[in-house]
Amino acid sequence: MPNKHIKVTVLGAAGGIGQPLSLLLKLNPHITELALYDVVNVPGVAADLHHIDTDVKISCFMRPENKEEENKPLQEAVKNSNFVIIPAGIPRKPGMTRGDLFNINASICAELATFIALNAPEATVLVISNPVNSTVAVFKEIFVKHGVFDAKKLFGVTALDHVRSNTFLSELIEGTLPNHYDIPVVGGHSGHSIVPLFSQSKGDVSLKILNDENILDALIHRVQYGGDEVVEAKQGKGSSTLSMAYAANKFFNIVLNGYLNLKITELASYIYLDNAIPGVTELKRDLKPLLDSQHLEMPEFLATPMTYGPDGVAAVNYSWVKAMNGKEREMFYIATDFINQNVEKGVSFVKA
Ligand code: NAI
Repeated sequence: MPNKHIKVTVLGAAGGIGQPLSLLLKLNPHITELALYDVVNVPGVAADLHHIDTDVKISCFMRPENKEEENKPLQEAVKNSNFVIIPAGIPRKPGMTRGDLFNINASICAELATFIALNAPEATVLVISNPVNSTVAVFKEIFVKHGVFDAKKLFGVTALDHVRSNTFLSELIEGTLPNHYDIPVVGGHSGHSIVPLFSQSKGDVSLKILNDENILDALIHRVQYGGDEVVEAKQGKGSSTLSMAYAANKFFNIVLNGYLNLKITELASYIYLDNAIPGVTELKRDLKPLLDSQHLEMPEFLATPMTYGPDGVAAVNYSWVKAMNGKEREMFYIATDFINQNVEKGVSFVKA
């Protein structure tokens, strides 16, 4: 096992996602220190996790009442972090879209991004707070302002869409289990911006599903709006928390394995398409004629499959662009339009 000090900080650690995610991270043999920060309730979560007999050291930070001391805990929490994972913010209630969360969560993200820029400028940052399509743009703008932006190290966590795709597909194909599949999901992370590429599964997807328009449409809709199933079932008491914690942990482990040079795995996440990232120029080259044909702007951010290494993104996989079938291309056009609007919202928020 590599003997490297790894500090992971969870911002929003006392929340519905933060708690189970912190539990999963406490079980991770590669983590040295797990710093938990929240504006409420975090001492109880930390005390509880502290009793678990794994080697991960728990440290706990909460915003104090005293305004003068307000900044210290957050500074200490993020200082020297290798990874900062952010499930801070408010979740959806029935009838709400992820866009409805924008104003509150964008303010929270802007504040947290500023502290990360000042205290852990080298950290790899995983953003869970919704609406991811916009909040990641908020992070980028704040990091740019502070001169610390590195596109290889800022991720919007979209892994739940991939997890749901695998699960929902396996339910439709008798005799298969979710881990039979590895569905790439591109685009963004809300409703129609989510584009599952069932035709490009690593597990063999039955042609019966791919050729039956009704079954495929229902499956795609279920992936795009799967979060609503949980929001409705919880009846106003939260959105996806356990499955999200699982998905975030799955994604984090893939990024960590790349960081530690242990294992290379491909999984999509939502990043800024910086030409310096291997594969991005080719991705844009292949996307351009498609988008031009629809008079669509090239998205600045996109969820695309990629691999991860010691410096964050290792390389973007662009082979999916040419492999998209007609239906997937149509979905991608709709997604691009949404993403461009959502990114603009995040950018304008910071500029204003
Ligand atoms: P929650 O309300 O249970 O927890 C959020 C936590 O953030 C709370 O403990 C709250 O005190 C904390 N918080 C609020 N302001 C803060 C600040 N300034 N600094 C630090 N912590 C702060 O919400 P839940 O269910 O854990 O969801 C969190 C976020 O994750 C929501 O925005 C939700 O929409 C999003 N989400 C994202 C998913 C994805 O796939 N990326 C999936 C599901 C939810």
